[in-house]
Amino acid sequence: MITPDALRSTYLEFFRTKDHAVISGKSLIPENDPTVLFTTAGMHPLVPYLLGEPHPAGKRLVDYQKCVRTGDIDEVGDPAHLTCFEMLGNWSLGDYFKKDSIAYSWEFLTSADWLALDPRKLSVTVFMGDDNAPRDEESATHWKAVGVPDDRIAYLPASDNWWAAGPTGPCGPDTEIFYWVGEGLPPAGSNKGTDPDNWMEIWNNVFMEYNRVDEKTLVKLPAQNVDTGMGLERTVTVLNGKTSVYQTEIFQPVIASIESVSGYAYGSDPVKDSSVRIIADHIRASTFIIGDPKGVSPSNVGAGYVLRRLIRRAVRHGRKLGIEGSFLSAPAGVVVERFGAAYPELVENRERIMGDLEREEAKFLETLQKGEHEFEKMLPNLLRNPQKVMSGRLAFKLYDTYGFPIELTEELAAENGMTINRAEFDEAFKKHQELSRAGAEQTFKGGLADQSEQTTKYHTTTHLLHKALRMVLGDHVAQKGSNITAERLRFDFSHPAPMTADEIARVQAIVNEQIGRNLPVTMEVMPLEDARNSGAMALFGEKYESVVKVYTIGDFSKEVCGGPHVERTGVLGRFVIQKEQSSSAGVRRIRAVLE
Ligand code: SER
Repeated sequence: MITPDALRSTYLEFFRTKDHAVISGKSLIPENDPTVLFTTAGMHPLVPYLLGEPHPAGKRLVDYQKCVRTGDIDEVGDPAHLTCFEMLGNWSLGDYFKKDSIAYSWEFLTSADWLALDPRKLSVTVFMGDDNAPRDEESATHWKAVGVPDDRIAYLPASDNWWAAGPTGPCGPDTEIFYWVGEGLPPAGSNKGTDPDNWMEIWNNVFMEYNRVDEKTLVKLPAQNVDTGMGLERTVTVLNGKTSVYQTEIFQPVIASIESVSGYAYGSDPVKDSSVRIIADHIRASTFIIGDPKGVSPSNVGAGYVLRRLIRRAVRHGRKLGIEGSFLSAPAGVVVERFGAAYPELVENRERIMGDLEREEAKFLETLQKGEHEFEKMLPNLLRNPQKVMSGRLAFKLYDTYGFPIELTEELAAENGMTINRAEFDEAFKKHQELSRAGAEQTFKGGLADQSEQTTKYHTTTHLLHKALRMVLGDHVAQKGSNITAERLRFDFSHPAPMTADEIARVQAIVNEQIGRNLPVTMEVMPLEDARNSGAMALFGEKYESVVKVYTIGDFSKEVCGGPHVERTGVLGRFVIQKEQSSSAGVRRIRAVLE
């Protein structure tokens, strides 16, 4: 039996004996990274160091990091996926590489002084190689050297054994470690490749020696790094011989509290059990999100919106268990108590956590009442319909305008002897979902490499420049390319002749004027067609998704773009065009800096 607290502290202690500095995990809200809403992996806060910046604590680090991963927020709550989880990680920033990383992992897992797992129940995978990087025989050799038999090593493709946090940024082949969850001992020849269901991943060692600059370009990083991640919840589950994280000490006390507020006994009904799990997961995630040092409150945008969805979903599932009033503070209190030692911020922010939860719960209960009231008002009309079918559009209106969940509309309809045209509702809902999903995905999948503040500033500046060029030279100007570093921007655009000194001066002045106006930069997600109709500039010939992000800078510019951008133009500084020259036939190039 290993408790989560013991696993966390044993891990830190082991790597301390291997000269790793213990660093503290970071906020759930990423620093200087407008492309993601939450810290999604243990390595996320370490990206700048993996890219080469020296870390103040040295080259060997160990930590535990709280993470939130929601992906598609409409699927949050699937009992197999946790919204909020902890990752244990050890890091080498250009220090040790494959050999030591593998030796450390093996010692920690199997040594009698540490976890003392049965080596016969462990297997590994390594990268089989592709156009980007060779087959990882080196890792396989090191595994064999510590005693892993050949038949417990599976060579798998990039989909399994290549790790990257986003479409750009540090990445590399990984080697993953699995624990046997089947009956007895694994038979000869069994590994993740031959018998995937019976092997559960517990640890991922990534050998980060590449940086993906763009879709076509993979460059070597200045140093060979190691990034490992051990999912705490999953590891505690398998090491204790359980099949679900909800059976472990991590969730049992939270579930007990939900049982006591609802009067429902977990285990008596599969549908209600799933509601209990969703509440337990969402309340834990919400408690961590609100309780973060950079605490987020429920709102209609960004991380606050994800939080709102989590809380409301928990409340809805509470009603399925028969709970009428507010109930979230009891299980949230258990989370604070249970995790307060490892995350003291939860204790410090207890009041804020409880206050935010109670307010949001009350607000949502009011929403539910309002929705019910609206339904009552529609009722006489609905009852006149001889087919007793409520239109899907009307049900969607209740959802869209009042936030009233479809399941509840269905319940009310049924109570009055009616059904809902569900196909029509689903269609309206799907359309709406495509829009929000596009927004969420584009945010979650944002690139990590180009996250520096300076690069983001240059990115926003190119939008100002693009518009200013069209104002001064004419509407034939179209962006032909752009290349941004933290030092300068380069912008290629169609124009038949060299710009005159006066034209350059005017463009520069217009851009600086917009910077001086400190215009807000806002983003909206919409179908591409609407974006075009709204007059947003889009690159001709560029392939876009059917739903896109549109960035608007005050009343000055509107462009289809993936972001990220600064929040206001005032932070950009002074814009100076350094050079205007030919790039190719009919295309000019401007090089400019911010001072
Ligand atoms: N970055 C890897 C992961 O998240 C290992 O830490 O799995």
